[in-house]
Amino acid sequence: MTKRLRIVAIDGPAGAGKSTIAKALAVALNIPYLDTGAMYRMVTYAALRDGIDIKNESDVAAIAKGMRAVMKSDRFLVDDVDVTDIIRGPQVTEAVSTVAALSAVRSELRASQRSWVENAGGGVVEGRDIGTVVFPDATLKVFLTASPAVRAQRRVAQSGGDVVEIEEQIRQRDHLDSTRADSPLRESNDSLFIDTTDLSIDAVVKQITSSVESIESNINE
Ligand code: DC
Repeated sequence: MTKRLRIVAIDGPAGAGKSTIAKALAVALNIPYLDTGAMYRMVTYAALRDGIDIKNESDVAAIAKGMRAVMKSDRFLVDDVDVTDIIRGPQVTEAVSTVAALSAVRSELRASQRSWVENAGGGVVEGRDIGTVVFPDATLKVFLTASPAVRAQRRVAQSGGDVVEIEEQIRQRDHLDSTRADSPLRESNDSLFIDTTDLSIDAVVKQITSSVESIESNINE
């Protein structure tokens, strides 16, 4: 019998604490961490770099297929250029939801995400459609959220900016991500739902870790 991979899917809107929690969780569970939002950001960066119309599905999908994306711990390289900072900047952030709505791009990235996890032997995978579409059979699916005001405050604490403006941008991005036709952001009905508004990172990580352990001990019984 092949051993079941340990996969934890973490989905939720921007600023819900996904990245911080997913990274800490990967350390606690001793498995690698994959930030799938960064993959959509890398494709967006390459499309903007090449001056491609980001609504043109086949052109952007060709970029996603042809670019050389490398994810090395906390650094991201596209065609040998370190794009770690630029993919978090305003131009990519503004355009990324448009790129993430393109089905041909999503299917390309879904395939990369599955083979990445297969090669890594499991992982904590963070995104918007991980539990619903990419890994519906994950060991555990988690849906993280927090109030829009708290999500905006966290983004400002991380990267600066005006809290009112950031809250508006977050609302717009949530709207685009949850209303697109292909794999919209939504909670799957068998996920562990956690509202992180009033919780510490440590408390959330402990809750998820103990859920994974109890699921695995039930499977092994
Ligand atoms: O998590 P993030 O802010 O880096 O995500 C960037 C964008 O990519 C955001 O608009 C949602 C989208 N995304 C997605 O559609 N599916 C994923 N699995 C991950 C991110």
